[in-house]
Amino acid sequence: MADETKTDGPAAGETPAAPAAPSHTAPAAAHAAPKPAAPRPPAAPLPDLAGKTTTAASAGGAAAKAATAPAAAKPAASSRAADDTSPLLTRRAWMGLAWGAFSAASAAALAATGRFMFPNVLNEPPQQFKAGFPTEYGMGVDERWKEKFGVWIVRTPDDIDQHASGFYALSVTCTHLGCTPNYLSAEAKFKCPCHGSGFRTTGVNFEGPAPRPLERVRVVLAEDGQILIDKSRHFQRELGQWTDPEAFLKA
Ligand code: FES
Repeated sequence: MADETKTDGPAAGETPAAPAAPSHTAPAAAHAAPKPAAPRPPAAPLPDLAGKTTTAASAGGAAAKAATAPAAAKPAASSRAADDTSPLLTRRAWMGLAWGAFSAASAAALAATGRFMFPNVLNEPPQQFKAGFPTEYGMGVDERWKEKFGVWIVRTPDDIDQHASGFYALSVTCTHLGCTPNYLSAEAKFKCPCHGSGFRTTGVNFEGPAPRPLERVRVVLAEDGQILIDKSRHFQRELGQWTDPEAFLKA
């Protein structure tokens, strides 16, 4: 009897053996057991409020984390002043726009002021010019001086007022409202494109709203034998001025 008791229990001073698991359940349990998680990297040290370096897990780290989070969101809110209630732009943007507009207006005013330092120069043709020799002209209307000097030179065998052959110079300004008529050689007349006034080659008006004939300008013979046209002196037929000796060059 004493031997049986000895063999069932551990001897004094021995570590009792763990009960053996049933042999058919041991592999399944080992398969289902979760794998131990990989060790996490140590948390980055965060400065706590007291200037110490600590971790987020520590009490100081949590406090530092809580303190730094609002600070990151702060710049967006700090772009406006506390009393800036503008709905669209910040006060700084409005000030920028105002300064831009002011600068542009100042530059424009400066440019306008500077423009007065350089007055307009009117390159008007001279009032007098030599129009060549009489032999260079045939009978009828000559338009070579219309664009440059604003006159037609007409050679006629018999002028209506001078009753002689020679030259007269007609102003190209319509006596209605100042347009420039065109010479229509086929119809032997001047026709104003603005309101339809018509003038004979003599300059006398005969149709349209023009109230009086075209004006003639001074025409004389220069010392060198050329025709000299002088636009500074005009002659009006309705005033009886076409009979003036300088309103017609006999030739
Ligand atoms: S301006 Fe020539 S007809 Fe009126």
